[in-house]
Amino acid sequence: MKLLQDKILQEGKVLSESVLKVDSFLNHQIDPQLMLEIGEEFARLFANEGITKILTLESSGIAPSVMTGLKLGIPVIFARKRKSLTLTDDLLTATVYSYTKQESNEISISNKFIEKGDHVLIIDDFLANGEAALGLIELVTQAGATIAGIGIVIEKSFQAGGNKLREQGLKVESLARVESLSNGEVKFVKDKVE
Ligand code: G4P
Ligand code: NA
Ligand code: NA
Repeated sequence: MKLLQDKILQEGKVLSESVLKVDSFLNHQIDPQLMLEIGEEFARLFANEGITKILTLESSGIAPSVMTGLKLGIPVIFARKRKSLTLTDDLLTATVYSYTKQESNEISISNKFIEKGDHVLIIDDFLANGEAALGLIELVTQAGATIAGIGIVIEKSFQAGGNKLREQGLKVESLARVESLSNGEVKFVKDKVE
């Protein structure tokens, strides 16, 4: 997605060989117009998949997910990372290991909102090692629902997550695929020219 790539080049900060900071439009301040266009792109890419729900993880996955849900006309559920005061009944829970933080965290959803028969699109802001996506897949599986695909705003293709998910036969659509962050520079995977 050209608009997103341009935004990353203009405003993204390369913090290290493996970390890209995008807090001016995705992870802290949010650019609503860009999120809307991201939602339109995901809606286009997954239009014919019979999706009934979108599942994401708080917090940065919520904005792109809501715009996609708006465009597809379906609800958005975000898995919680912390126990909620009101969300107490019939929780489905999965464990997500974070390589950056070197700790495991529980994520959960109520079994009320994703059920048998649902066909779920998973959306997240970043794809690195794929642990968050695998945790979300686990929740969908526990609910007895099926996975339609995975929509990622920024994939770091030099990390293992993309291959892990695609090897399982999942449809993964990433709107920007970063090939490398070496020398303080963002390089994107070249789109195949047919
Ligand atoms: P890892 O596999 O590389 O260890 O990353 P992990 O999944 O543990 O992700 C930890 C958090 O860091 C996630 O956000 C994830 O989206 C984010 N993240 C991973 N790589 C990058 C990166 O290069 N740039 C940015 N900006 N974020 C990255 P989170 O803690 O769940 O936060 P949030 O969703 O509340 O924003
Ligand atoms: Na994040
Ligand atoms: Na995230």
